[in-house]
Amino acid sequence: MAVPLFATTLERHHARLAEALSRVVESGHYILGPEVEGFEAEFARYLGARHVVGVANGTDAITIALRALGVGHGDEVVVPSYTFYASVEAIANAGATPVFCDVDPGSFCVTEATVRAALTPRTRAVMPVHLFGNVAPDLGDLGVPVLEDAAQAAGAGRDGIRAGAMAHAATFSFFPSKNLPCLGDGGAIVTSSDEVAERARTLRFHGSKDKRTFTEVGYNSRLDELQAAALRVLLPELDGWVAARRRAAAAYEREGLGEHVRLPRAVDGATHAYHLYVVRSGAADELSDTLAERGIGARGYYRVPAHRQPAMRDFTAPELPGTEEAARTNLALPMGTQLGDEAIREVVAACASRSS
Ligand SMILES: Cc1ncc(COP(=O)(O)O)c(C=O)c1O
Repeated sequence: MAVPLFATTLERHHARLAEALSRVVESGHYILGPEVEGFEAEFARYLGARHVVGVANGTDAITIALRALGVGHGDEVVVPSYTFYASVEAIANAGATPVFCDVDPGSFCVTEATVRAALTPRTRAVMPVHLFGNVAPDLGDLGVPVLEDAAQAAGAGRDGIRAGAMAHAATFSFFPSKNLPCLGDGGAIVTSSDEVAERARTLRFHGSKDKRTFTEVGYNSRLDELQAAALRVLLPELDGWVAARRRAAAAYEREGLGEHVRLPRAVDGATHAYHLYVVRSGAADELSDTLAERGIGARGYYRVPAHRQPAMRDFTAPELPGTEEAARTNLALPMGTQLGDEAIREVVAACASRSS
């Protein structure tokens, strides 16, 4: 039985999505209209935050959020190197310097200690990444704004607070494989600060509030009406989807996967959303080959961490042993909202065949 890495389809929602899209086509209003306003209000209510600002993608969301938080040229932003490259690219695009910190390879997230080790007098913001749907721990009061990169963590939470509503601001991606997808590119900035939200709204529209006066150099980065309409159809599904992902994770445990690989570990108090189900193994690539032979999707993520990417050559990084371990040993196994017990047993059997 073949098992895809991403076991999710939107098939059940096609009719309602088509209806929402035709509503936009018929309205003739395609940019910054009632669908974007509606989605922003509904997502803010879902998260328990005051403001959501829709933008073109999750990468722009980070750049704009950092600038809205007052980060600019010469400022340092502490970020884990073990993340999707866009997290650090977005910092550089804001004119700031990414300062790489380590992660706990067990959770794939930063800790208060790894973040504090990277702080300097030039630190202007800290950006924990809620990687793979886990939630980075509380970082205490660091004396600088904290921006959550929640691109992979829609529907996750910690101690009763939603990922995206835990810090000064947060960003999301609605890329189609994400927990809350749209039908193309989309992203959002979340904040409960009126001032930060106002700045983000201005920056997403060329640095202008009124389309006539341009008060700062900004961006053309808007969530469009079609994507917002799709997101309004899908947002009510999010909690059910996360519950399905968590059931699949529990089934992996029940079926004994932990006898063959190290299982993902939720941060204390976190409700993991399992955007990806990432285990660890000393022989991750060999295991991936074994799974591929049986038609099972598996993938090592971020084998070359961000600080070792050629584009980051101008930024220095200390030794990051947790990052290197995470990069070398991780392996994403099939996960999704439609991953059944039979498929899970197939994956566990394939992992057992390798370890026996
Ligand atoms: C952790 C992380 N940050 C940022 C991004 C960037 O989002 P986007 O692809 O929508 O620009 C992604 C997604 O790809 C991501 O996984």
